[in-house]
Amino acid sequence: MSITFRKLHPLFAAEVSAIDLRQVHDRDTLKAIRAGMDEHAVLVFRDQKFTIQEQLDFAQRFDGKLHTKTGVSAILKNRLGDAPIGDISNVGADGKILQADDRKRQYSLANRLWHTDASFQDPAGRYSMLSAQVIPEVRSDTQFADMRAAYDALDDDAKASLEGLTVHHSIAYSRQTLGFEFSQEEQDRLKGAVHGIVRTNPRTKRRSLYIASHANRILQKQLAEGRLMLWELMAHATQRQFVYSHEWRVGDFVIWDNLATMHRGTAFDDSKHRRELRRVTTLDLAYEFESLGTAETV
Ligand code: OGA
Ligand code: MN
Repeated sequence: MSITFRKLHPLFAAEVSAIDLRQVHDRDTLKAIRAGMDEHAVLVFRDQKFTIQEQLDFAQRFDGKLHTKTGVSAILKNRLGDAPIGDISNVGADGKILQADDRKRQYSLANRLWHTDASFQDPAGRYSMLSAQVIPEVRSDTQFADMRAAYDALDDDAKASLEGLTVHHSIAYSRQTLGFEFSQEEQDRLKGAVHGIVRTNPRTKRRSLYIASHANRILQKQLAEGRLMLWELMAHATQRQFVYSHEWRVGDFVIWDNLATMHRGTAFDDSKHRRELRRVTTLDLAYEFESLGTAETV
């Protein structure tokens, strides 16, 4: 099936022409979507009607193996069950909107920091795929920033200074900047992961900055010097011209490349309005549709 892309921002992000992703099994269409991801880094599909299982199946057909513990499931039981799907919502197990001091809500507030999904793990997250089930009548956008454009905009000296640098990403670090407290057992379990500060897309060869609020220290630098450099890069990379703000509609299914973008949620009155989305994130491992047609659920 042929698909077309309509740009949503001068630099990146595109809306894909009408298609039912539950029906997409053929290699050519999957390849076309993948090429769209390489070009636009964020793709918006409208009117998707996935069940949880169908979303899991599509994610695996499209990009291989799934992360099992991202987002709030890193520390808390998942309201949606044991499947590797993230409950991105302000709703508790009893179906009610979470109280302000609920631990799940406190934990989820960190989604408002600019980040990439699962950069604190190895393999990191590659594609995240978020489906909108319940959306408030007030704006509750997710914002994306183009880390390829942010890299390109650095001057030559700044680019050269990044060569060979690696960064420790830690979810305990990013949460602690908001005052969230982890138990010793959680801290021991959430050790974090080290990744290069510049990534190169293996197909397009485009380079991108790989940073996030999880970025804790630069291994090759003294702690304070490295942190200052990371904060400077975060400020640079999230300037307005690099940001697309997605206004959600029910049925939207948004795929983003965590290696080429950062994202964050925005504030809304979450004590009044329900907001429920479901997220699947794939592992950054080589994948070329090997399991096409035989995708198993992990
Ligand atoms: C996510 C995330 C932000 C939002 O799903 O990974 O960061 O706006 N979401 O819900
Ligand atoms: Mn996220």
